[in-house]
Amino acid sequence: MTRSIMVLDTTLRDGEQVPGAKLNMHQKVEFARQLQRLNVDIIEAGFPASSLGDFQAVQEIARTVGDRVSITALARAVKSDIDSVYESIKLAQQPFIHIVLGTSNIHVEKKFNRSRDAVMQMGVDAVKYARTLLPQVQYSTEDASRSDFDYLWRTIEAVVKAGATIINVPDTVGYAVPEEFGELIRNINERLKNLDDRVILSVHCHNDLGLATANTLAAIKNGAQKVECTINGLGERAGNTSLEEVVMGLKVRENYFGCSTAINTKELLRTSRLLTHLTGLDVQVNKAITGENAFAHSSGIHQDGLLKDKNVYEIMSPEEIGGESMELILTARSGRHAFRNAVEKLGFAAGEGDDFESLFQKFLALADAKKEVYDHDVFELVSGHRTLDQSNSRLYELASFQVIANSLSPTATVQLRRGQETVAGSAIGDGPIDALYTAICSLTDMKVELKDYKINSLSRGKEAIGRVTIRIEHEGRIYCGRALDTDIIKASGLALLGGINAALLDSSEPHMG
Ligand code: KIV
Ligand code: ZN
Repeated sequence: MTRSIMVLDTTLRDGEQVPGAKLNMHQKVEFARQLQRLNVDIIEAGFPASSLGDFQAVQEIARTVGDRVSITALARAVKSDIDSVYESIKLAQQPFIHIVLGTSNIHVEKKFNRSRDAVMQMGVDAVKYARTLLPQVQYSTEDASRSDFDYLWRTIEAVVKAGATIINVPDTVGYAVPEEFGELIRNINERLKNLDDRVILSVHCHNDLGLATANTLAAIKNGAQKVECTINGLGERAGNTSLEEVVMGLKVRENYFGCSTAINTKELLRTSRLLTHLTGLDVQVNKAITGENAFAHSSGIHQDGLLKDKNVYEIMSPEEIGGESMELILTARSGRHAFRNAVEKLGFAAGEGDDFESLFQKFLALADAKKEVYDHDVFELVSGHRTLDQSNSRLYELASFQVIANSLSPTATVQLRRGQETVAGSAIGDGPIDALYTAICSLTDMKVELKDYKINSLSRGKEAIGRVTIRIEHEGRIYCGRALDTDIIKASGLALLGGINAALLDSSEPHMG
C-alpha cells in the first residue's frame, strides 16, 4: 500500500508573481481547466485581495472547475483578505482559506515590528475568523525553515487549537537543505500526530539553491502529506518546487518513497507547454521531465544501448508524461473532428457553435498558407483567437507593414487595427526592427522600454519565434509577448504587439489599492 500525497498547484498564485508571467482572466481559466485534467487535488487560484482583477479571476476559476477540484486562495492574516478569499472561492465545492503569517525572527521583528506573542495572536485570530466562514483552513508559517523551532511549534499548536486543518511549512527563501528540512518535518509531524492526527502536514519550497525538489521529497519521506508546487517550477526568484519533478520522482522511485499522487502524468507535458505558451516563459532545454532534451539521447554509446533495450538508459518513458503522441501534423484536408481533437489534445477547450467554427476557419486559412500545421501552430492559433475575440475592441492587430532595411535610414510603415479603427504611420530607426518598434509604439501611444528581444528559429517547419519583454514606463510593470511567423520581421512585430496587448488587457482589469 502506498501513502497518498496531495498535490496543490500554485502556478496561478506563486507562479504568477514572476515579472512578465501575468495572465489575463481568460488565460487563467484555460490553465485551470488543464490543471483539472492533470488531476491536481487543489488549485491555489490567486491572491484575491491584491486586485479586483485577481479577485474576479479566482471567482471565475472557482465557478468553472470548482465542482471537480478543491480551490483555495491566499490571504494575509487580516479580516479583509480573508473576506476576499471567502467571497471569491465560496462557489467551489471544496473551498478552503489559506492564511500566511511569518514565524522567523526577521519576519516578526522587521516586517511586523511586534512581539512574538502579538504576531502569534494575529494568526490565531485570523484562523478563528476564517473558521466562521469555512470548515477547512490552511495556515502557512512563512519562512518556517529560518524560524526558531520552539516559536514555530508554539505557533502551530496555537493555530491548530484555533481551528487550522492544514499546516503548511514553507521554505520561503529556499534556504533549507534536504536532510535538515526532512528532520524539521519529522519533528513537526510527530508532535502534530499527538496534538491532532486529522491535521494535514504540507510543505512549500523555493528553489534558490536548486534544492526545492530535493527538499520536498525529503519532507514527503519524513511524513508530509501534501506538497505545494508549480508547473515548470515557475515562481518567485528561482521559482517553486516543480510539480512534474516531484510527481515523477515519486512515481519512478515508488520503491523508495512508498508514496503516490493522483496526478495523470500523461498530461504533464501538455500542461508544461500550455504554461510556456501562455506566459511566454520558456523551459530550459535540459530541464528534468519537461525540457526539450529530457528524453533526447545524442551520444552514440547511449543510442546503441537504447536500441538494444530502452531500459539501458531510460528510467521513464516519454509516453508516461504525454510525449510522443503529442506531435500533430494537420493539413487543410484535416476535418473539423481532427482539428477539434488537436485543439483539445493541446489542453484548450475547442468551444462550440460559432466560436468553434470561427476558430476552424482560421485554421483553414493557416493550413492553406502553411500546408503543414504543427502543434505549436495550433497553440498560437487558439490562444491568439481567444484573447483577440474576447476583447477585440481593446487590442491591436497588425493589419500590414513594410520594412526597408538599409545602411542609411531603415524605415518601417505600419498599419494597425483596433476594433473598427485603423491607424497608420512610419518611423525610421537604427535598424529595421528598431524602426518597426518605433512605429508600433508611437501608433499605440505606449511608452514602452524594451527589456529583452529574441528571435529564434523553431526546430521544425520554417518559422521564427519572436519574444519580447517590455516594461511600461512610469507604471514599471513587465509584460511578455511572443509570436510565431515564417517572416522574422512579422514575428518580431507581432511579439511586441502581444506584449502591448497584455499590458492593455491588464490595465483594463480593475486594480484595488
Ligand atoms: O513562499 C511562501 O512562504 C509562500 C507562502 C504564502 C506559502 O508562498
Ligand atoms: Zn512561495
